[in-house]
Amino acid sequence: MQQEQLFPAKYREYTARQINILNSPKQLGNCDRDSEPYLEELEIDILNKKQPIQFTPNVNEAIHRWAPYVQGFSAFFVQSVFDQYVSEYKNPTILDPFTGCGTVQVQSKLNGFRSVGTELNPLLKFIAETKLNSWDVSPKKLLKVFSNLKLDKPAVAPNFLKSEKQFSKEVLKNLEKLKGGIENLSNRKDPKIIDLINLAFSSILVEVSNLKRSPCLGYSKNKKVDPHSPFVLLNQKIHQIAEDLRIIQNEYLEFIATQSLVILANSMDYKHENKFDLVITSPPYMNGLDYVINYKIEMGWLNFADKQTELKKLKDEMVVCDNVSKGLIKNFEPIYTNDWIKNIKTNIQENIIRRGKYRRQDMPIIVHKYFDDMYRVFKRIIPKIKNNGRFILVVGDSLIADAYVPTDLLLAKIGKDLGLKIEKIEKARNRRSGQIRSYKLRETIITLRKC
Ligand SMILES: C[S@@+](CC[C@H](N)C(=O)[O-])C[C@H]1O[C@@H](n2cnc3c(N)ncnc32)[C@H](O)[C@@H]1O
Repeated sequence: MQQEQLFPAKYREYTARQINILNSPKQLGNCDRDSEPYLEELEIDILNKKQPIQFTPNVNEAIHRWAPYVQGFSAFFVQSVFDQYVSEYKNPTILDPFTGCGTVQVQSKLNGFRSVGTELNPLLKFIAETKLNSWDVSPKKLLKVFSNLKLDKPAVAPNFLKSEKQFSKEVLKNLEKLKGGIENLSNRKDPKIIDLINLAFSSILVEVSNLKRSPCLGYSKNKKVDPHSPFVLLNQKIHQIAEDLRIIQNEYLEFIATQSLVILANSMDYKHENKFDLVITSPPYMNGLDYVINYKIEMGWLNFADKQTELKKLKDEMVVCDNVSKGLIKNFEPIYTNDWIKNIKTNIQENIIRRGKYRRQDMPIIVHKYFDDMYRVFKRIIPKIKNNGRFILVVGDSLIADAYVPTDLLLAKIGKDLGLKIEKIEKARNRRSGQIRSYKLRETIITLRKC
């Protein structure tokens, strides 16, 4: 009888996880309702400002399109920020503390604005830097070097990756030929040309593999890849880059020398020398992506990692994500907390106990570490914002074990605690929770100002 109450007939075929989802008190809920108490305390409303905020439109934009990057945000959005404040900042200096593949910095340079970015993943730092600092490469020379690649000395696929599983036999053989050809160029050609060819090579790897990013890297069941696709796609990419270089050298000549600095650094620790007018960024999302494992293929093939342990070490330095190592969480000592964080942690803890099981029992601490990490970044950056400067963040909220986490409002609160004014909070789009599909989340633009 008791068993019958716990698992009514309609649920018998479901797993415990599915039953928890079906019984979730958050079914059909939404972030707007759950944000009310937080907004009341901040004395602010969320404005609606629907707009394309994701990377997808960038695939048609010169330079931005050189490397596909699912977690990037839209060049259109960055331009809209510049347009909005054009009368306030004459020749602004821009900072992106989480530069990723460099959307903010590339768009800054296209406006002739100096920029600095920090990024912890060396592959992404390389991609951003190459997109920014190769504008003077001759497209003709690039095409010539590429067409003369020698393919007779194949390289070996990175041995710490499961390349035989990740690629078909023929594709793998062709990738090894191409990599051998690129390595053979070393020291003999313009390093910027080699960087561009390496960037192009990295950008085709997932496309020619048996994997897909959606957005996490995983095997794709029905993917068919033509054995020659590495040659075809690399050739297309190099021609695309050459075409964009021509555009730059015709239309943006005066900005080619604009300084764009990408620093391989942890934004929680890095001490900036400059002061900035605008900080524009999209930080990692809570519960979001693993920015190391997701790029392990490109990191391996471009020699940015040669061991799994190296990847793990790098991952543990990043702003925390939910597959961080248990040891790091066990030894976590916060420097920041507030009542919101305390209540959210209790809420998550109670819900995990009620559910009986959860992916990570240490989830309350992971959540705390996320805000602690972000606090450390804010502490470094805020003193470096000029008076009247702005700190603009694009971030999504989360639902974790049936507890709503208003990441955007909490980050705004941290900014306020550190002396910034919350100028506005705008909803750019609705999202669905990955756990409870009927629960509506949002993606938000937070504008903080130093007065
Ligand atoms: C959402 S992505 C930024 C995307 C970027 N706006 C773009 O359009 O390419 C966040 C980035 O932060 C980086 N990151 C995470 N923790 C970091 C840290 N502590 N210091 C510097 N970068 C970090 C990740 O590697 C990732 O590239």
